[in-house]
Formats: sequence, structure tokens, C-alpha cells
Amino acid sequence: MIDRLTVDRIYSAADIVEVVSDFISLRKKGLNYQACCPFHNEKTPSFVVSPTKGLFKCFGCGKAGNAVTFVMEHEGMSYPEALKYVARKYGIEVQERELSPEEEKRNDDRESMMVATSFAADWFRKTLWESDEGRSVGLGYFRQRGLSDETITKFGLGYCPSRGDKFATAAKAAGYKESFLLSTGLCGQRENGTLYDRFNDRVIFPVHSVSGRVIAFGGRTLRTDKKVAKYVNSPESEIYHKSNVLYGLFFAKKAITQDDCCILVEGYTDVISMHQAGVENVVASSGTALTVEQIRLISRFTRNITVIFDGDSAGIKASMRGIDLILNEGMNVRIVPLPSDQDPDSFARSHSATELKDYIRSNEEDFITFKTRVLLEGAGNDPIKKAGLINEIVASVAVIPDPIMRSLYIKQTAVSMDVPHDVLASEVARKRMSHDTDRQTREFIRRHEQVSRIEERLNSLPDTPSHQTGTAGSGIEELEKELVKYLLKYGGKFFDYKEGRNVVKFNVAETIINDIEANGLVFRDTRYRKLYETYLDLYNRARLEAEENDRDDDEVPSIGMHNFINHPDPAVCNAAVDILTDSDNYIVSKLWKKFDVIVESEEDKLSESVPRTVILYKSKAIENIIAELRGKLSDESLSDQELSELTFRITTLNKERMAIARKLSRLIL
Ligand code: CTP
Ligand code: MN
Repeated sequence: MIDRLTVDRIYSAADIVEVVSDFISLRKKGLNYQACCPFHNEKTPSFVVSPTKGLFKCFGCGKAGNAVTFVMEHEGMSYPEALKYVARKYGIEVQERELSPEEEKRNDDRESMMVATSFAADWFRKTLWESDEGRSVGLGYFRQRGLSDETITKFGLGYCPSRGDKFATAAKAAGYKESFLLSTGLCGQRENGTLYDRFNDRVIFPVHSVSGRVIAFGGRTLRTDKKVAKYVNSPESEIYHKSNVLYGLFFAKKAITQDDCCILVEGYTDVISMHQAGVENVVASSGTALTVEQIRLISRFTRNITVIFDGDSAGIKASMRGIDLILNEGMNVRIVPLPSDQDPDSFARSHSATELKDYIRSNEEDFITFKTRVLLEGAGNDPIKKAGLINEIVASVAVIPDPIMRSLYIKQTAVSMDVPHDVLASEVARKRMSHDTDRQTREFIRRHEQVSRIEERLNSLPDTPSHQTGTAGSGIEELEKELVKYLLKYGGKFFDYKEGRNVVKFNVAETIINDIEANGLVFRDTRYRKLYETYLDLYNRARLEAEENDRDDDEVPSIGMHNFINHPDPAVCNAAVDILTDSDNYIVSKLWKKFDVIVESEEDKLSESVPRTVILYKSKAIENIIAELRGKLSDESLSDQELSELTFRITTLNKERMAIARKLSRLIL
């Protein structure tokens, strides 16, 4: 139990920005700080930390709290654990009463496992430095491998002696329960029920959580006997989820943020030797295949990953999957192959810090060059293998977010694989289209959920005067009409869209529908909304049908006019006829005239007018939402939290509107 006074002192000392920054990197945004939320997967930051209020909140997933609850959530700690963590950070002494047996029993398993693990870390370390066997065998080994005492201390390396149960005996004597020694995997149980040390006769590499607590161990044997496993690792447990942990991240996170790059290697010793050589932004996946969780862990600190491979290419192919995973998360990947017979550990030990950094800089290969080279070596001249290979490369190129990079890669791959440039470019564009659609669908669902949560709450409030009038943005109906016109008249048509130096064909209906759906926008005018919904419905059905019949993706369904002209609702039917016959009335052209834009014939200008109208509409629609939300602000029944949520949403929307305005002016100039 921590007394009230101490708790208060911890809370007043805790700087939420400092505490949160220990785990993720925050970017200053006005008075607040922003980051991508660590509690759910996202690519645009909706996680906000307010230093003045001492609060964090994610507007994506809704998680919110203070410095202490952040540590609880993020590290999976109990409340007292998190309090103690923050207290330690600010040098506050925590006076705890002795626990009564009942309270001890109530202590949850996790906490007990953590305590046992940290006892083990201390014991292994002491044994390394203080026992005869530890010094002569363990310490001797580390030093002979070229590790300095400073490095050995920094990484908390240890030793577990060769007599099979010394640790178990010490732990039990110190009062640790067998059940926790077993559940952490520190000990195993013999047939006769006695405990033995899992790590017996091994040097110890403690594995730290992002916040620096020991959660597991790797033990390396010093025997050369092939029958003895080289490494023994802590098992999966309540406190150690391998796929969520990267070895060395705690020691590397500062350098990763500073260098804006994370180097990925394979093993414990690689990380440690590179650190000692002065390259500190290094982590290891510890022998297992890289997981999405591990990549997301890195992405909290940087978007750039450099993978260093051992000279011999045994693991290279297996690592390809890992690379595509990284690309898929929107990160940038570079590869550094080492000279054959070298690994990062041996290379770091035989080179100075400057040489090491120079080598990395001058041998970094972008992953496409690397992948092409490695795959080509494997495929030889076999045309079937080569075709499969092109598909693999196309898949990788298609997920690169930056269009300029993408077209550079296309050019480069066309040359290195001897494939016509156009073929490659259109393959990539095709892959991207479906990729984009997937992404947009997910994004739409996420936003939709978020918006409807807020709206639900807001709708439960009494109407405000401005809400009742409700026509904040006039002119929006005209834009709705314009969009419906493009759908009805040109839905199946394509327009050219320049991406870098490539020209990609976009479909009119797809462009309009994707944008409206992704933003969760709803038409105001009932007639146009019904026309749009009718179109959307027919469009979706036609797409589905095309997919079932495995028809070519390029075939965009054309929707017959009769569907609209014969609409059961007479008002909608009239609107459709109006739109389809009213070909001279360029609503948008009127709008553009304000900006001195010369308007050519409708169909010729689709490539400009469709994106413009969509953007203009988006801007207007957002303006309307803002006006509506503003009206709610004056409501006095709002709680502080609701008020700040409302303000935040308005600010976000305003920012989005600004961004749209900038885009709009770019398009017009
Ligand atoms: N590994 C493991 N179990 C094994 C072998 C390897 O868990 N039986 C993991 C360890 O995390 C190890 C990494 O895979 O660090 C890389 O393996 P390896 O290169 O063999 O080990 P190093 O750490 O490089 O050890 P050393 O340099 O002492 O050979
Ligand atoms: Mn090694």
C-alpha cells in the first residue's frame, strides 16, 4: 500500500510529456504534443498529450488518462507498479507498509512474476561479478569476446552457475514462491518435484521492456558440444510476449529518435557489440522472424529501418517476408549486406565506430535493388521463375507510399529485370488501386465509428438555435448536383491522372465514391442523396458481379440511365432528368470563373473538374459540420471532457479544411 500523501506527491511531480516520451516519441503541436497512438494501429497521429492538463487522449480509439494510467496501460503494470515506476523516475521515496499475508496473497501473479524476474536479474549479475565461477568462466568469456566492463554492466549481463539448482535454492531462500519461479520459466521441475535452473551453466542476457524492466532472459552456453542448445530463452508467459519485444530497444530508443532510423540485426551479441562500437540505434528480433507487432513498436520512434544481414545468405530469403511486412506498415527499408563470413558482432568488433558508420552509409541498398538482385540470382534464366519474381517485386513497389520513389523504383526495376517500363508501371498502378481501396475501407470504418460515437453523444443534447437553422453552407447542394451529374453522365469514364511522370487512369465513379465514403459524408439535398445512393447501390452490385465472374478489373460497370429516370420517387426522377438534359449549365464552371479559369467542354476536362469538385465539396461539407459543432459549444450541459472533445474535433476539422484549401489553390493555380 502506498499512502495518500506519497501518491499525491507522485502525481504532482509527474510530467506527462516526460513520462509518455519514455515510451513513444512525441511531436509538439501548438500547446500540445502528438503521436501515433500506441494503443491501436494508425498511420496519422490522433494521440494527443496535453502538458497543461496532465492528460493524454487518443481521438482514434478513445483511450485517455494521466501519466500513471498511461504507464499502466502501456506496460501492462498494476496501479501500484505504475506509481512506483513514476516515483522512481522522479526520485520520490515510496514508503510501503510490510504486506500482510492476506495482502500478499492478493498480490496478483503478474506482479510476483515481475519481482521474481528482477530478483533473478540481480542474482545473475552478482554471480557474474562476485562468485569465483562467475568471474573466471562468465566474465572471462565476455571480456575475451571483447566486451568492456562498462558494456557488460550497461546491458546487465550475468551468469548462472553450472551446479543445476543454485539459483532455485537462492530464490527460495529469499522467499520466492516455487509457482512464480516456474511460471516465469526461471526454473523447471524434476520428476521428484525439486526445482532446477533453466539457465544453468550459461551466460545471461537479460531482455528489457521498453521502459527498462527485465522481463525475460536469454542464456548462452559456453560449451562447444553440438548437442547442447546454443541459446535457451525464457518461455512465453504472462509477462513476456516474444512477438511484442525487441531486444535492446530500451537502450536504443533515444538514439533511434535522434538518428530517425532503427538498425535491425539478429542476435543479442550483435546489438551489444554495435553499441560498444558507438552505434546505438540497434535492436534485434532475437532469432525469431520479425512480427508486425515488433515493427509497430519501432514505428513509434521512427519510420526508417535499416536491416543488416550476415554475409552468408542462408537467412536472407526468409527475411524477405519480414521486409514486405515492414513496407506494408508504411516504413522505409534499407538493407546492408555484410561481407561474407561476417556478422554485425564480428564486424563491429573489428572496425572503429567511424568505419562502421561509413560502411553502413556507403553499402546501404534500397530493398528493391536488394530484392531484385537476390531473387534474380535464384531464378537464373527460367522464364516462369522470372515472371513470378516480377510479381513479387511489383507487390513490394506497390506498397511504397511516395509516388516519386515509386516511379524511380519502377524505372530501375524495368532496367534491371529487362521488362518494358509501361508494363511494369501499369502492373504497379493496378496493384495500388486495390491496395488503396482496402486501406480506404479500413480507414472509413474507423472514422465512421469515431464520428458516430461523438455524434451519438452530441445528438442526445437539446438542439441549439444554429442547429435548427442548419443551413450554414449554402452552395453545397450545387456541388452535390455536380457530383451526381459526373456519376450519371460519366461514371464509367476514365480520366488521366499524372503521378510523377507516369500517367495513371482513374475512373470517375471510383474517385467520387471513394472520397465521399472515406470521409463519411452525406449529401444534404434529399434528391441528390437518393440519386447518389441509387448509383452506389447499383455500382457495388455490378462490381460484385464482375468479381464473381472474374471479369477484368479495368471494366468499370456502366450504370444505365433508366435506373434514375425511372426512379420510383418522382422528385428524384425529375432531378435526374434535369441533370441529364441540362448539359449547358456548368455549375462548376461558374465557380471556376471566379478564379479566372478557362473552361473547356465538360468531358475534356474531367481530369480536372472531377478532383476539383470532390475537393470543393469536401471543403464545404466540412465547413457545414464545423458550423453545426460550433452551435453545440454554447450548450451548458456539456461536461468538461465533452467540451474539450468538441473543441478538439472542431480544431481537427479546421486543420483539415485548411489543408483542403491549400490543395484547392494548388489545383487552381
Ligand atoms: N537464438 C536462439 N536460440 C538458438 C540460436 C539462436 O534463440 N538456439 C537467437 C538468439 O537470440 C541469438 C540470435 O538467435 O542472439 C542469433 O543467433 P546467433 O547468431 O547464433 O547467436 P549470437 O547472438 O550471434 O551469438 P554468438 O555471437 O555468441 O554466436
Ligand atoms: Mn554472432
